[in-house]
Amino acid sequence: MCGIVGYVGKKKALPIVLNGLKFLEYRGYDSAGVAYLLDNKVNITKEVGRISSLEKLIDLDTPSYMAIGHTRWATHGEPSVSNSHPHQVGRFTVVHNGIIENYLEIKEDLKKKGVKFLSTTDTEVIPALLDYYYKEEKDILKTIKKVLEKLEGSFALGIICDDDKENIYAVRRGSPLIIALSNDGMFIASDVPAILNYTNKYILLEKDEIAKINNNSYQVFDFNLKDIKKEINTFEGSCDDAMLNGYPHYMLKEIHEEEKVFLDTFNYYVNNDSFKETMPDFKKYKNIHIVACGSAYYVGCIAKSLLEEYAMIPTCVEVASEYRYKKNFYNQDTLVIVISQSGETADSLEALRKAKKDGIDTLAIVNVVLSSIAREAKYTLYVKAGPEIAVATTKAFLAQTTLMALLTVKLSRKYELLKEFKGLERKIKELLSKDYLEYAKAIYKCNDTFFIGRLIDYALCLEGSLKLKETSYINSVAFQAGELKHGTISLITKGTPVIGICTNKDIVSKTISNLKEVKARGAYIIYITNEECHDDFYDQLILLPKAHNLVMPILSVIPLQLISYEVAKLRNCDIDKPRNLAKSVTVE
Ligand code: G6P
Repeated sequence: MCGIVGYVGKKKALPIVLNGLKFLEYRGYDSAGVAYLLDNKVNITKEVGRISSLEKLIDLDTPSYMAIGHTRWATHGEPSVSNSHPHQVGRFTVVHNGIIENYLEIKEDLKKKGVKFLSTTDTEVIPALLDYYYKEEKDILKTIKKVLEKLEGSFALGIICDDDKENIYAVRRGSPLIIALSNDGMFIASDVPAILNYTNKYILLEKDEIAKINNNSYQVFDFNLKDIKKEINTFEGSCDDAMLNGYPHYMLKEIHEEEKVFLDTFNYYVNNDSFKETMPDFKKYKNIHIVACGSAYYVGCIAKSLLEEYAMIPTCVEVASEYRYKKNFYNQDTLVIVISQSGETADSLEALRKAKKDGIDTLAIVNVVLSSIAREAKYTLYVKAGPEIAVATTKAFLAQTTLMALLTVKLSRKYELLKEFKGLERKIKELLSKDYLEYAKAIYKCNDTFFIGRLIDYALCLEGSLKLKETSYINSVAFQAGELKHGTISLITKGTPVIGICTNKDIVSKTISNLKEVKARGAYIIYITNEECHDDFYDQLILLPKAHNLVMPILSVIPLQLISYEVAKLRNCDIDKPRNLAKSVTVE
């Protein structure tokens, strides 16, 4: 969580840093701040709220050519001006993404030495330590190294020092950080979209590497302060991919990109009804563990159904924050699959590292190219969703589901199933062109909703329910249709919306029975199915296009996403940046 941007160069720094921070707001948006060099002095401006609130306090024309900035998702201490970054102690000013786990010990120790603290953050110990050791070391790089030795946790830092008016320093341990290069200056950033308006050339920092950038050069040092050579990467996407392009919200724009995202992902792995070399052979694996968080975990639940049904491979799905601490029964026949849009989710990354440490093969299903999970897994398969800005994931979910269905075909060796993907883009388009407002109107005034379904449809219920909760703040529960009557049905009262999903004709009568049970207790039923239905138990119907069960989840998720969007809009919610959330969860 939290986003960092820094710039030093020939252009005015504040517009660049603020613009970059806006592209990183998906990482946190409860407060923000900048530190900039003006007339040989470091000035700091901070504000609670979005970057737009901070921007109102800043003169973008300020002739400052070096600045660091931060957008925050609070971990230690409430969102307030004093807890916002940058934090300054003595000569050092710091922006930080991550958590300093041993900050309390350090703080106590420094307090005894007379250091005064102004915030309740973990971050403030970093400039305090830097300032303290600089008095002994009298050299910025040596001081940073010394402080790195003291810090425990996961972090990325941008640092400026009053005694060096030319350079910004940056350090990475765990949390992502890049440096980016242009003819007009150098950048640091938590993620590539922050710099795409200016350059697409960037360098990924690795664990404990220290970067030093000035207006026309950069250096990267390892932990022993040895100057090292780094590979320069070129980002292939365009800045346009991360723009609204006329849509009112990123969520809507990204849902409407799903037709393309499906095709891009499919065509990357398949050509003329055969798999390309981009899809490796995983035939040696006899069982699979899927590990992920949030919506990616629900993709895992869909994938479990598919893998067991079509590839006959026993599959378990685990939430990463649990998996990393529990006893796992895996061996050389196990493939651990980590699904992550960002490739930086801390729990998913640590779960991957645990499996690797135990000598187990790992496969990453990731959207963000060269992210930590993508780089650390033994195999990586990219989904082709492009930059996803809205905090609630939509197109990446669809792309991950597409790829897991393709992986199922590969593992099942039933290659004839590839034809079931043919023409699916037209069905996606058909679903995207429908109006979902009437369904949303039945939901938006309620306090509670239920999603029920069986087997793979239950996995979709989990995602539909999460989407509604996160975007519209309506309490919602997903249940296996047959299980509802064992207690939870007591919550159904007159008018309670129940969204029932059934896309499997073998069990359609069972799910319909469960829907009738809640109808008899007053529920308002929205029924989502791909089977013609002549019964009258429902209040509203969404008829999905016909498709093979293997690819059905790629279609069934679309109405769920669009209903959540419409409900959030009717409730005037902050659709792209729901309260309390962040897109990339880089803390435990
Ligand atoms: C956050 C996001 C979710 C996402 C989850 C996992 O909670 O809000 O939308 O599904 O993290 O993120 P990842 O990047 O690992 O897919």
